[in-house]
Amino acid sequence: MEKIVIKGGVPLTGTVLVSGAKNSALPLLFATLLAAGESEIGNVPQLRDINTTVKLLGEFGALVTREGDICRVDARQIAGIEAPYDLVKTMRASVLALGPLLARCGRARVSLPGGCAIGARPIDLHLKGLEAMGATINLDHGYVDARADRLRGARIYLDLPTVGGTENLLMAAALAEGETVLENAAREPEIVQLAAALNSMGAKIEGAGTAVIQIQGVDELQPLKCRVIPDRIEAGTFMIAAAITGGNVLVRDAIREDMEALIGKLSETGTEIREEEGGLRVIAPETLKAVDIRTSVFPGFPTDMQAQFMALMTRATGTSRISETVFENRFMHVCELQRMGADIHIDGHSAIIRGCEQLTGAPVMATDLRASASLVLAGLAAENTSEISRIYHLDRGYERIEEKLAALGARIWREQE
Ligand code: EPZ
Repeated sequence: MEKIVIKGGVPLTGTVLVSGAKNSALPLLFATLLAAGESEIGNVPQLRDINTTVKLLGEFGALVTREGDICRVDARQIAGIEAPYDLVKTMRASVLALGPLLARCGRARVSLPGGCAIGARPIDLHLKGLEAMGATINLDHGYVDARADRLRGARIYLDLPTVGGTENLLMAAALAEGETVLENAAREPEIVQLAAALNSMGAKIEGAGTAVIQIQGVDELQPLKCRVIPDRIEAGTFMIAAAITGGNVLVRDAIREDMEALIGKLSETGTEIREEEGGLRVIAPETLKAVDIRTSVFPGFPTDMQAQFMALMTRATGTSRISETVFENRFMHVCELQRMGADIHIDGHSAIIRGCEQLTGAPVMATDLRASASLVLAGLAAENTSEISRIYHLDRGYERIEEKLAALGARIWREQE
């Protein structure tokens, strides 16, 4: 097992380039199953979750080749419809195979993902929507077994604006017979890119990015050719790295309109953010002001930035309250931050953070993807040395993070445990 070692206290300076968005690349890769041809996706980040998805596409009989950041998927022949537990348990997004396989082959057998560190994360809304479109869904031996001769359009109200649920149903509806309307749909930028990609394949989708999406089903889709949008969560993580270390960093390819909530909150801390050279320039203030945040679905403050912002607030002057409204157990980073001297206590779905003068480096353990990012950020700000174990969590969603941070001046490296 590997660990990351950080000798903190260095203000970060320089330029960092944001990689392609994990949470856009994943649905786009599954969308290639909808077309009997060779699709090509550019700016695909080198991440564990991408590797898992490539393995899954292979399980379905697709031929996947990678050349740098380009992924080519030949889905002419679909020879399998089962997503096995050993892959799904490592990546919940595997459930995004359901919609495409059902739409393309009329059959899908996908292991239930099971719980994860941040919450139960059921997929009941995915299944309810597919049933509304005529699929027969059976749960047996931990697998979702779904069948449909041909999916038919339906009006579906989503009890929650689920990102994955919206993506699964978009892909299913693209090849269904008739019109589907998704109400209370998720509005994330990754949904907008998926809908645009499906339309470039011949789908007829309107309203992506709003709460109501209309899809006119078609009989066939052409292969996909597109380039993944920049990762707004990776960009936000680097912006906080600049703010927490007292640095001055240009985050290249960060897209302002995808990050308004984070930018607004970061600005309230006194951090200066301005558009520059096709990215965002982030300049840390002398002292950080404590700011309250409440996570929400897009365009609200992203839950995927909550842990990172909490690390920042441990260094602010004053007390901040962070409320997590999306997941039920997304405070796993709190006890690790406390080991580094942070003054945090949990009150139900909120955490109260009293800023402190200085964090102290310590051996800590990553528990989930964004929690591990918050420990890296705390380590960058802490005096003396931190060691972060179980960094396989980090590698799921950040491409070469220690190299990118070292290029900004951080004393950070990876070594064997
Ligand atoms: C996506 O997960 C992201 N993952 C998550 O990012 C992100 O945190 C989440 O959206 C919210 O923005 C990918 O895109 C691969 P949801 P997803 O369905 O689709 C409940 C990261 O760090 N729910 O919007 O699983 C669910 O329990 C990851 O990159 C149901 O109850 O999120 C949760 O409380 C972590 N029933 C809430 O909705 C359902 O059928 C949001 O889930 C579906 C969801």
